[in-house]
Amino acid sequence: MEFLAAYDEIPQADAARRVGLLRQRMKADGPAVLRELRELRPVFATPVGVFVTRMPDVVEVLSTPDVFTVGVYGPVLEEALHGPFMLARDGADVHWHDRAHAQLMLPPEDFAPVRRLTARIGDDALDRAIAVARIEGRTTFDYVQQYAAPVAARVAREYLGFTDVPEETLHGLSQRVQRAVFVNQDRDPEVHASGVAAGKELHDIVAGVIGRRRAAGVRPGGPGGPADEGAAGAGAAGDGAAGDGTPDDVLGRMLRTALPPGTGRELDDERVNHQLVGFLIGYQQNAAQCATTALKELVSRPDELARAERAAAEEDTAVFDGYVWEALRFHPFVPSTPRLCVRDHVLAAGTPRETRLPAGTVVHAHLASAMFDETVVADPYDFRPGRTPVHNMVLGHGAHECVGKYPARAIVPEMVRRVLLRPGVRPLPGGERALDYAGTPYPQHYTVTAGATASP
Ligand code: HEM
Repeated sequence: MEFLAAYDEIPQADAARRVGLLRQRMKADGPAVLRELRELRPVFATPVGVFVTRMPDVVEVLSTPDVFTVGVYGPVLEEALHGPFMLARDGADVHWHDRAHAQLMLPPEDFAPVRRLTARIGDDALDRAIAVARIEGRTTFDYVQQYAAPVAARVAREYLGFTDVPEETLHGLSQRVQRAVFVNQDRDPEVHASGVAAGKELHDIVAGVIGRRRAAGVRPGGPGGPADEGAAGAGAAGDGAAGDGTPDDVLGRMLRTALPPGTGRELDDERVNHQLVGFLIGYQQNAAQCATTALKELVSRPDELARAERAAAEEDTAVFDGYVWEALRFHPFVPSTPRLCVRDHVLAAGTPRETRLPAGTVVHAHLASAMFDETVVADPYDFRPGRTPVHNMVLGHGAHECVGKYPARAIVPEMVRRVLLRPGVRPLPGGERALDYAGTPYPQHYTVTAGATASP
């Protein structure tokens, strides 16, 4: 039976069964449920919130932060970070200023150096994984555990500045926080406590890193800061050392940056700590999973894969990158993001979808559905790498759109590109879509062949 017919058969008073059916059908075939909703009930009220499925309405929700706030997960995120953070707030108080600071610290100029860094770390990880497989007499290795997760974490260590923190620590702790804040909708107390404890561990680790940098003499306005054109400075993060011998990374930039005094907006070391840990939470699981699902989507389409492999060999990566972002449209890391409606609001006013939302309503802005809105996106089920980026919401949209989008645009495609440049490393024939989640919300294992040693 179609989803809505089955849903409507359940009495409205039986909220538990309605929610159970919704979750079960979304898990079994989310795209089919969303297609039906877009067509028949694009603004769909359920006991767990209102699902907004069409692109203009998702845009409206995510672009109106004074009505639709991040209040659904904001308090949990701040509990885990042990302090304020932009993705937990809206408005002038924290979001506007801290986001401006983050934009300065994660500038577009980072794109090329971060891409080089990712290429180096990615090649090294592939060489190692292949060598270990040979030594152990295997013909395959685990793409998630031996490539995607450690490469993302090593890039975080060198680019963001988690100096000397083991990659397993960065990946494991950030996964617990991510899960507690963004996945744990029912607020399971164990998952919650585990995430908050992991956030505290990350906070204390970063406090140690910051303390050592300060002890080494890193100070606002010091060498390597954004104003110091003579040093490696902005644009070279992760590529070398600043003038004082400490790493030139995002943390180094933050510690060398003095915001205008007297504005009350200065970021002390504690706030820098929240920024850095928050960046890791926004980045690590996203990068590791996207590098995995993008590969899965590409290898599942042999013709597109062949074209992507050719594009991967080009010096100009723009065409290749289009394949990766289009692949992620079919499997984004953030399919839906919740917002809390804090004032009565008429959504989609003047359209047939017009809906009055009372204050207190939880609204699910369904990015994965919006990207397949057939009234906006031409032939949405076709794989078309050259689509306008306007229709790609993999990095979010509106007030909280990914502030790390420039490094993200370098890291994710380059992680996939390093693999496609090695024809011997591919998912097993027949196992192209065989991601193993091992009972968690994140892909944990993906078997690939270990067929080539040398870096390209
Ligand atoms: C690697 C791939 C990445 C993906 C797929 C991704 C995805 C996203 C998405 C979908 C959002 C919107 C969340 C929402 O509206 O609820 C977001 C926000 C954010 N991302 Fe990313 N992200 C990535 C990389 C990064 C990186 C590299 C950083 C920082 C170094 C970062 C930091 C953030 C922050 C701080 C926000 C919140 C911005 C705000 O509140 O204004 N992300 N990201």
